[in-house]
Amino acid sequence: MSVRYNMFKDENVMLEIQKHFPQIQYLKKQKQAYLDNAATTLKPQCVLDTLTQFYREQVSNVHRGDHYLSDALTLSYENTRLQIQKWIQAKSADEIIFTKSTTEGINFLSFALENIFQAGDEILLTEMEHHSNILPWQSLAKRKKLKLKFLPVDEKGELILSQWEPLVNEKTKLFAFTWYSNALGTRNPVEKCISWAKDKNILTLVDAAQAMTVESVNVQKMGCDFLAFSGHKLFAPTGVGILYVKKTHYEKLRPWQLGGGMVTDVSVSDYEKADPPQCFEAGTPPIEGVLALDSVLYFLSEQNFFEIIEGNKSSLLHYAEEELKKIPGIEIIGSSPTRVNILSFILKSVHCRDLGQLISQAGVAVRSGHHCCLPLMKKLKLPSGTVRASFSVYNDEQDVDLLISAVKKAKSILL
Ligand code: ALA
Repeated sequence: MSVRYNMFKDENVMLEIQKHFPQIQYLKKQKQAYLDNAATTLKPQCVLDTLTQFYREQVSNVHRGDHYLSDALTLSYENTRLQIQKWIQAKSADEIIFTKSTTEGINFLSFALENIFQAGDEILLTEMEHHSNILPWQSLAKRKKLKLKFLPVDEKGELILSQWEPLVNEKTKLFAFTWYSNALGTRNPVEKCISWAKDKNILTLVDAAQAMTVESVNVQKMGCDFLAFSGHKLFAPTGVGILYVKKTHYEKLRPWQLGGGMVTDVSVSDYEKADPPQCFEAGTPPIEGVLALDSVLYFLSEQNFFEIIEGNKSSLLHYAEEELKKIPGIEIIGSSPTRVNILSFILKSVHCRDLGQLISQAGVAVRSGHHCCLPLMKKLKLPSGTVRASFSVYNDEQDVDLLISAVKKAKSILL
């Protein structure tokens, strides 16, 4: 029998973690596995409890009422901003803007930053970006006559860093790139990229959507100008996201959405905006999602999350990779040693959607297709994309075993 890896060397730690995720108990009973954590993570009991408490006892709006429910809720809401500031080690809670998602954070920036760009300016992206870090910049480029450039990716799925220097010049205003590839799992050298950009006065936006459950974040140490992530990939509900903006950049931003809660005065012809971050949070925010995110951060701190995953976090990926490689016809896509929890593969001469559906019918949830990274798939000549298994803290070797037997069964049907 092959060497067995557990995400946690101590099985009790794994059982303790799994206990907090009700859907894991449910999946185990059905002999099913959830390996689509890059799409969204499962939710711990504290999220269920926070949402139930909100809808049973606390429903109200924030920053609006003068009544006790609204006041209490506003305090909790603003306290979450403080917790997020601490979590990502920002200098000030004012640097935290609540959004709907990573996508909304990036779209917001592509409008809010519009005035810093002049025709002919350039934006550098990478070939491994998710569509949400390409399309908003394409639209801005069309509106303002900008040029988009792309740092290329090699066959291992890593950025070709030697191409960075020739791609930037005095017209490059922004370098927007992902920390971890959602399709291949590669970790980009975020610190190096930011430091290079800083040396040339290029602003940096980090798409941290896939990073939040595998690394602790220190935006001050990283030195990035903007960083976006989604709550739902960090065990919180969908509908809440975070955009970090270095405070000194607020004067460059103009509000994107206009409406209630973002003004200090309004006349029939004009308005005065509130101070940031409020002026960037028009309308009723995702209150219950914000409270649930707060409960997640508390839960993860209590569990010493980053301490317990340290040293174990890529073990399951390596076990899955070794086992998949034993199946003739399977090809692993992306071989960067920096991968932590995302594993992409194909079965030669089989459409990835067919493979993915059969794996799913065997009770294992994986994502198949282009993973919203069509430029990357085209570059790697993968017309039907890949099948992607992505792991989280509650996954164990039984989940990988279910995946392997599902792939073998699918292969026997398809070939
Ligand atoms: N961006 C998410 C993924 O990669 C939805 O699946």
